[in-house]
Amino acid sequence: MSAPFYVQGAWFVGALLFIFGLKGMSSPASARKGIVIAGYGMLLAIAATFVIPGLQNLGLMALALVLGGGGAWVSAKKVKMTDMPQMVAIYNGMGGGAAAAIAAVEFAKGEMHGLVAATLATLGALIGAVSFTGSCVAWAKLQGVLKKAHRLPAQNAVNVLLAVIAVGLGAAVIVLAPQQPELVIAFFVVALVLGLIVTLPIGGADMPVVISLFNAFTGLAVGFEGYVLGNPALIIAGIVVGAAGTLLTQLMAKAMNRPISNILFTPLAASGPGEAISGTMKEVGPIDAAAMMRYASKVIIVPGYGMAVAHAQHKVWEMTSILEEAGVEVKFAIHPVAGRMPGHMNVLLAEAGVPYDKIFDLEEINGEFGQADVALIIGANDVVNPTARTDKTSPIYGMPILNADMAQNVIVIKRGKGTGYSGVENALFYTDNCRMLYGDAQPMAGEIIQQLKAMG
Ligand code: TAP
Repeated sequence: MSAPFYVQGAWFVGALLFIFGLKGMSSPASARKGIVIAGYGMLLAIAATFVIPGLQNLGLMALALVLGGGGAWVSAKKVKMTDMPQMVAIYNGMGGGAAAAIAAVEFAKGEMHGLVAATLATLGALIGAVSFTGSCVAWAKLQGVLKKAHRLPAQNAVNVLLAVIAVGLGAAVIVLAPQQPELVIAFFVVALVLGLIVTLPIGGADMPVVISLFNAFTGLAVGFEGYVLGNPALIIAGIVVGAAGTLLTQLMAKAMNRPISNILFTPLAASGPGEAISGTMKEVGPIDAAAMMRYASKVIIVPGYGMAVAHAQHKVWEMTSILEEAGVEVKFAIHPVAGRMPGHMNVLLAEAGVPYDKIFDLEEINGEFGQADVALIIGANDVVNPTARTDKTSPIYGMPILNADMAQNVIVIKRGKGTGYSGVENALFYTDNCRMLYGDAQPMAGEIIQQLKAMG
């Protein structure tokens, strides 16, 4: 059924709002507004769909909206900032699944008009189905439900074989679909299994990149199905998501120095355990840490995943304000993959009220560590590990890192001697200019604040 011009127009305006929304999300200062604008776009596109004349199953559509929207509302309210990657994974999977379901319905109706529509519907179904099961595995791994990476013998050959069978079945579906429901079912089963088999061997450390890749896939699948349904909002939204997901995937892969092919086909641990590190970790107390920063001219703070888990951002900002009042220049250095998702640290610092002009990306700040009296590392580990520069056998070799080791003094707040996400020992912690301040990031920041206040 083709929609009347006013519905098409509303979808088009909705799609434009998605684009303006995405533009807003390109800066932390306007990101919140961007999300709201894109939300209005979505609302308009959905409302317009309901006024298509002669539309059937309105009750079912409303029920789906209430269940889906209600579930999303409750889970979004409850989710912890550190669990956000899982949430993105599962929502992304739903998008891929929805795109595949649209194609399945079109196949079942046997209403595929022309070779182009049939090809795009099948491609969308394949990509959407892979993205659906792949994202479910990604969710299970990040949530800790699936703890191990499951690798088949000759894994890569199995992946290729399944992909070839899926494409072959898809080609057959394009030619024979309406007459051959068994073929359609076989096609979907193979596509769904392909998503599982490709994702199961990938380790948790690489999962955020994989989620971003599936996000790009989902966008593509949605765009294809939008063409099949003649819905410009779906086409534009799909293309925008596909392009944004592709760029983000590249950015993350570059920041971890892992080519995407390497992430998909080579497990992280395969590169070796890394060289042994000599020396000892030297401890410092909150009084000395506070004094080192209070009498410094320049302090650079490097936040990491531990700051997020500890919800220490508000205390860190309070500490920063006290230091600034005392005349210390304080800057924040953010690694592109600090934390567990892109922009994780920026969002937390913005939430605590840290002005954007104090937050610097790796390229902007790396040259300044040499002039810093103190680099204060709060719950970060891999992103400041100098092993990445020097040890060719290390799994994180080649990953660009923040040059915290080049500061005059380094203070590291963490709970113990544990490694970071990659499981690699950090050579920085053993260097002469580094001091460990053991404890949970929030109470530790609190103690430093007390000491700073006492120093006046
Ligand atoms: P990590 O290397 O994971 O290190 C975090 C450190 O925080 C740990 O060593 C831990 O040590 C400490 N910590 C944990 N809870 C704490 C708490 N409550 N208080 C104080 N410290 C605490 O984090 P990072 O430096 O931010 O690096 C991110 C890692 O995630 C990188 O390996 C990156 O490749 C990976 N990754 C990130 C992304 C994105 S997009 N962000 C995507 C894919 C992969 P203790 O246990 O001793 O406290």
